[in-house]
Amino acid sequence: MHNNRTTITQFLIEEQRHIQGATGDFTALLNDIVTACKVISNLVNYGALVGVLGSADTQNVQGESQKKLDVISNEVFLKSNEWAGHVSAMASEEMEDIYPIPEQYPRGKYLLLFDPLDGSSNIDINVSVGTIFSILRGPEGLTKPTVADFLQPGVKQVCAGYTLYGPSTMMVLTTGSGVNGFTLDQNIGEFILSHPNLRIAPDSQEFAINVSNMRFWKSPIKRYIDECLAGKDGVRGKDFNMRWIASMVAEVHRILTRGGVFMYPLDSKNQDQGGRLRLMYEANPMSFIIEQAGGMSTTGHERIMEIQPTSVHQRVPVILGSKNEVERIIAYHLTEN
Ligand code: AHG
Ligand code: MN
Ligand code: MN
Ligand code: MN
Repeated sequence: MHNNRTTITQFLIEEQRHIQGATGDFTALLNDIVTACKVISNLVNYGALVGVLGSADTQNVQGESQKKLDVISNEVFLKSNEWAGHVSAMASEEMEDIYPIPEQYPRGKYLLLFDPLDGSSNIDINVSVGTIFSILRGPEGLTKPTVADFLQPGVKQVCAGYTLYGPSTMMVLTTGSGVNGFTLDQNIGEFILSHPNLRIAPDSQEFAINVSNMRFWKSPIKRYIDECLAGKDGVRGKDFNMRWIASMVAEVHRILTRGGVFMYPLDSKNQDQGGRLRLMYEANPMSFIIEQAGGMSTTGHERIMEIQPTSVHQRVPVILGSKNEVERIIAYHLTEN
């Protein structure tokens, strides 16, 4: 009865057949990432029963206090992806320095960046969390990977994806030819293609922003949100709805499903850090997915994927989602600041 279902492995192997010179390395790497996400999904599902909730009483390089699951998920990702010989180094939100593959293993041609647990403030209240990843190619003949090898703009990504640990566990992926979504069948432990060719509606009536930061916003964002809130009575002539889940993975997934805009803009509170969200393992992979689904992603002033990174943990303002709404916000940034 299930024979006509496409598993993520089948999907990737079939994609690989169309790529000239593909060696299978990339498919094998993706398989290890899938395994890591299944392990994290299991830990998230069992939660308090396996003692993984709560704080780790440590801080990461961003000065955020780490949850136990931030640390555990990071470890799961490292262990799943270090041994097979496809990766040369990894970088993560939860590690200050890059992680070159230990010498006992062969080093491969890819660089892997990840946010092991996104929305981790949700974990103790049993609300959706996720994992985000981005794959870059390392320079040819790479033996000793350095931070400089990672500092490539988002347009260079080979693949980007996220896994959403929600009511169902879903993995959403792009390799540069559209976006596809897979749902984890817990009984057989396989991700099954459930959302082929996801597309974002160009227009929408739903926005996501942390409104508690309103007093810190700059005028283009204030104007856009004021106009949304004015609804039918204002210049937009239609009512808007609002959501804030505090997990970028969950917000992006909603936008892929029913459109909308997500914003974590530059404001007077995060200005000194250059924004709130991290460019290389949050903003870039999500921007790749959003653009591949027909949406747009910007800082307000420039396309996120064209930014030349200067550090692995660099932060950036993020505005992404339905094309016509994002274009409107960009236009407001051109006339005001
Ligand atoms: P993380 O849990 O990986 O540190 O990321 C959380 C991010 C993002 O997913 C979310 O949109 C945002 O932080 C929430 O920020 P606020 O708590 O300021 O709303
Ligand atoms: Mn964090
Ligand atoms: Mn995150
Ligand atoms: Mn995180």
